[in-house]
Amino acid sequence: MTHFDIVPVDPSDPSLVESWLAAQEAVHEHDFQGLRPFNPHQVLVGLVVHDPDSRREHWAAVCDGQVLGYLGIALHDRDNTHLAGFQLGVHPASRRRGIGSALLRHAEERALEDGRTSLTSWVDLPSEHSPDVRGDGGPFLIAKGYQRSLEGALRVCELAAVDDDALDRLWDESWKRAEGFELTVYHGVPNQRIIEGVAYLHARMYTDMPRGDWDLQEAAITADTVRAWERQRLQRGVLNIQAAVIHKESGDVAGLTEIHVQAGDERHCLQGDTIVDPRYRGHRLGTILKIANQRRLCSMRPWMRYVWTGNAVANTHMIAINESVGYRLAGANAVFQKKLGSPSA
Ligand SMILES: CC(C)(COP(=O)(O)OP(=O)(O)OC[C@H]1O[C@@H](n2cnc3c(N)ncnc32)[C@H](O)[C@@H]1OP(=O)(O)O)[C@@H](O)C(=O)NCCC(=O)NCCS
Repeated sequence: MTHFDIVPVDPSDPSLVESWLAAQEAVHEHDFQGLRPFNPHQVLVGLVVHDPDSRREHWAAVCDGQVLGYLGIALHDRDNTHLAGFQLGVHPASRRRGIGSALLRHAEERALEDGRTSLTSWVDLPSEHSPDVRGDGGPFLIAKGYQRSLEGALRVCELAAVDDDALDRLWDESWKRAEGFELTVYHGVPNQRIIEGVAYLHARMYTDMPRGDWDLQEAAITADTVRAWERQRLQRGVLNIQAAVIHKESGDVAGLTEIHVQAGDERHCLQGDTIVDPRYRGHRLGTILKIANQRRLCSMRPWMRYVWTGNAVANTHMIAINESVGYRLAGANAVFQKKLGSPSA
């Protein structure tokens, strides 16, 4: 049995931070090959820049000054105050010595102390499309009494491989169904005219997307929340490229989509929310939004190569749109969840 202590990661301790970063990089290299590359810049910035609506805790299992394992906990304060999210990993050279178990126990204790009743984690899993992903996380969490609560799929769009002529045709066909709507593209904070509508649609994401048995509840998101998110993205060096469609007659924001370009990575970026208001579905607005934003990304970041997205497997409409604009399957993930109070292995 290795002796180790679980300590908070102190941002002002450079050797601890460096070792904590190296452990995460080692886990990524060992376990998650073929997925989006590890971005040390974002991990480091996440240590000091916090979400406006949740507290983040960073813990490390340390032996002789070396970090053997890490644990991140997210405690939402604005909504979903019954949930705690977490991510943990153990250096490949230190596995099956009880470090993962100790970090998980620590997560559960912290969550209980904070009054949480559910612990949840998104875990990347092996699949035929990601054969180099190892997937120790799933069996570990199942052994600890967690349940697989939502099935997800990862897709990637290789921008240079997208058939532009096919996209042009899809774009023209889609607009035939979208009379009465107009498109607006922007980045950062949405303008005053649309920000309330944008906030409303982000809130709907919590209730409209398939959630399986994941215990995620509705959220109240206001224009101020959206401003706070953008302020935090600025601090993290994340560019949020967005498109929205407006229903011309009413001025309603009928749908939106966003792509996040993170500082420290000029090749891989991330799809954020995409949603069309249920009142305006069936007009191909989702397709229009995705094509418009993908093209805007290419003009703003011509060297960008890949856009990554994750969807619940049950989200068939969104997946069909993604595939029509060039995404292909690249991996699998799932939410694992445990109600606290139920016995831990
Ligand atoms: C999952 C992970 C954290 C486990 O760390 P660890 O220190 O090896 O875990 P422990 O030694 O405490 O294992 C405890 C028990 O979990 C189960 N377990 C751990 N890894 C397992 C695996 N690969 N397959 C099946 N069961 C496993 C076993 O029951 C094990 O007990 P045993 O060794 O007596 O058989 C580690 O493999 C890892 O970092 N994986 C990559 C990151 C990741 O997927 N994280 C997801 C969790 S959020």
